[in-house]
Amino acid sequence: MERDKQLRKQAEEAIDTYREQVESDRYRLNYHLMPPVGLLNDPNGFVYFKGRYHLFYQWNPFQTTHGAKFWGHYSSADLIEWEHHEIALAPSDWFDKNGCYSGSAIEHDGKLYLFYTGNVKNKHGERESYQVMAVSEDGFTFEKQGVVLEVPEQYTAHFRDPKVWKHENMFYMVIGAQSKQQTGLAVLFCSKDLKNWEHLGPIAGAHMKPLADFGYMWECPDVITLNGKDVLILSPQGLEPEGILYNNLYQAGYFVGTLDYQKPLFEHEQFVELDRGFEFYAPQTTLDSKGRRLMFGWLGLPEEREEHHPTIQAHWIHAMTLPRELTLVGDKLYQRPVEELKTLRQEEFRYENVILTTDEQSFEGIEGESLEVFLTCSSQPKGDMIIQIRQHAQVIYHSESKLLTLKRVSFVDNQTIEERHCRVEGLENLRIYLDSSSLELFVNDGAEVFTARIYPNAHEKTISFSADWDVPVSISAWTLS
Ligand code: FRU
Repeated sequence: MERDKQLRKQAEEAIDTYREQVESDRYRLNYHLMPPVGLLNDPNGFVYFKGRYHLFYQWNPFQTTHGAKFWGHYSSADLIEWEHHEIALAPSDWFDKNGCYSGSAIEHDGKLYLFYTGNVKNKHGERESYQVMAVSEDGFTFEKQGVVLEVPEQYTAHFRDPKVWKHENMFYMVIGAQSKQQTGLAVLFCSKDLKNWEHLGPIAGAHMKPLADFGYMWECPDVITLNGKDVLILSPQGLEPEGILYNNLYQAGYFVGTLDYQKPLFEHEQFVELDRGFEFYAPQTTLDSKGRRLMFGWLGLPEEREEHHPTIQAHWIHAMTLPRELTLVGDKLYQRPVEELKTLRQEEFRYENVILTTDEQSFEGIEGESLEVFLTCSSQPKGDMIIQIRQHAQVIYHSESKLLTLKRVSFVDNQTIEERHCRVEGLENLRIYLDSSSLELFVNDGAEVFTARIYPNAHEKTISFSADWDVPVSISAWTLS
């Protein structure tokens, strides 16, 4: 208890010490969730409970590097106005002393249960992992209940990120794991009471059919059902780049298939990346009271040049993506910004049936750092289009190759141009959410998404459009509060 109080106090002090510096940073985002100080990574425990959305997050309040994580806590009635709360979990016990790692939340009998991984470095410097449960009556203060699961002997200590859900009359938990041969796995457990968990076995893995060699570790698995199909979302580590695929250090994506809870086995198709941009990892979903499958992702990536983000000079790093609604169309996951985001809209600017030219053209009102831009093509264009954003990013569509490209100025040297690509079947529309230092691009109603941090100078506000085709486009934009 003492240790818990002490850690919480130290975290509060860190917030106070750096508040001014953090808040005066010009890269603070205007409508995305961020840590009040320090480092934020994965979304955790995303749940709708007693009339509010709760979103917890991996948090190191003391440094802008990874360390013994806390669970920070935000909640909201509408996904727009978020309140920051007292710390939900602090790494204060023997079973989580080196971090209350990622996990999930579930409501049961009017109470909120959290499941997370207690990360421990033992006295030999070796990793130990424990799956831990905590409970809350009100959704704001949590009592740890201790370890509910230890690592079964067939896995290494890379065994974490429990996601719990209910199916028929049983609770299930999927865990991101590593086999003794150092291959990634998603492992299933079941329980009648949330306390006693039975090991059912791996449901999918880097060396299980139809895969041959698909990474040394699978982090943050999530099993959901959409349109009668099961989807396993995960963040595999150890994939090699293949052309325009897997170009980031780590990936986040999904398999569509069918989960046989009895066998247990998840029969699935090929892996599809959830994001085509630069910073996106460890997404987590929940089902809300309206029946929507909502997702937050970490707008960041572990170990990927993190020390170069300019925000660390102001004692903070990383953010959450916007909340997105998932739907399954055929075997493809679509991500759309939740409709509540429309309430952020302030002034509207609309330009109908514009013929773009090869000269860069800007439009009154379509500029600045907090902006939603929506562009539609009246028919299939032949040629190229470039949207130039604040001298720091370019969205390019090349109709011949059907490649959609996002280029940005690297935050490492503020000079090198980096690019990511995705093939799209024609261009129908683009929706861009710009915040002071982030960009989320939704292509063709969310069939593809590119997420990235960008760090333009404050005076670079211009957005311009050019194209060498004669298909009219319509452009709408809204300033966002
Ligand atoms: C993913 C991850 C998880 C782990 C957490 C620690 O980014 O590595 O596997 O639980 O972050 O912060």
